[in-house]
Amino acid sequence: MKILHIISSPRAQASFTIQLGEAIIKKLVSKNNNASVVIRNLNIDPLPYILDSTIESFNTQPENRSAAQLEAVKLSDSTLGELIEADVIVIGAPMYNFGIPAVLKSWIDHLARAGVSFSYTADGPVGLIHGKKIFLAIGTGGVYSEGDYKALDFIEPYLKTSLGFFGMTDVTVFRVEGVSVSSLKENAMQIALEKLNVLD
Ligand SMILES: Cc1cc2nc3c(=O)[nH]c(=O)nc-3n(C[C@H](O)[C@H](O)[C@H](O)COP(=O)(O)O)c2cc1C
Repeated sequence: MKILHIISSPRAQASFTIQLGEAIIKKLVSKNNNASVVIRNLNIDPLPYILDSTIESFNTQPENRSAAQLEAVKLSDSTLGELIEADVIVIGAPMYNFGIPAVLKSWIDHLARAGVSFSYTADGPVGLIHGKKIFLAIGTGGVYSEGDYKALDFIEPYLKTSLGFFGMTDVTVFRVEGVSVSSLKENAMQIALEKLNVLD
């Protein structure tokens, strides 16, 4: 089992989403002697925004790409390659202003490639990346799993939609939530970790 851990919080070991992602991985590894883990920290190795040259490159057949276009597509190719290599992808996603951090959005933007991660057919778009198990480790200052704020969580719907568009529909969501709420923050991590029991 090859596990890919996508980290998008810049807060290193203080990060709740990194801690939660690591706890998910620990559970998976404890059940799979042959598991290996690749860590992709998107703040240490950020992916650039999509440029005109990147789009041109995406839209040009590999054999027809110019040197600049070949260069522009390199990071997308390696990002996709790393994803395709993995069986399980654990994605740490802190909530930033109701959505995901820009570095994580850039990761998605580099994965979205017509003909590689999805394809347009006569019946509409189909995803081309299959057989992956995804775990989301979402961290939020407030509570978004239920109640009034549920409709304001754009992380879970966005990631499920994007990953599903690429064919990855087996998504399990774990949350550490309420880390900015005085009455909840003390126990937020403990409660999140207890919910990982479903992986036992
Ligand atoms: C720039 C920024 C924006 C944030 N926006 C929100 C938000 O819109 N809603 C929310 O509930 N929490 C928000 N938070 C709180 C984070 O989601 C929370 O602290 C989370 O634990 C951060 O993940 P991390 O601990 O892995 O870094 C924000 C935090 C930062 C730094």
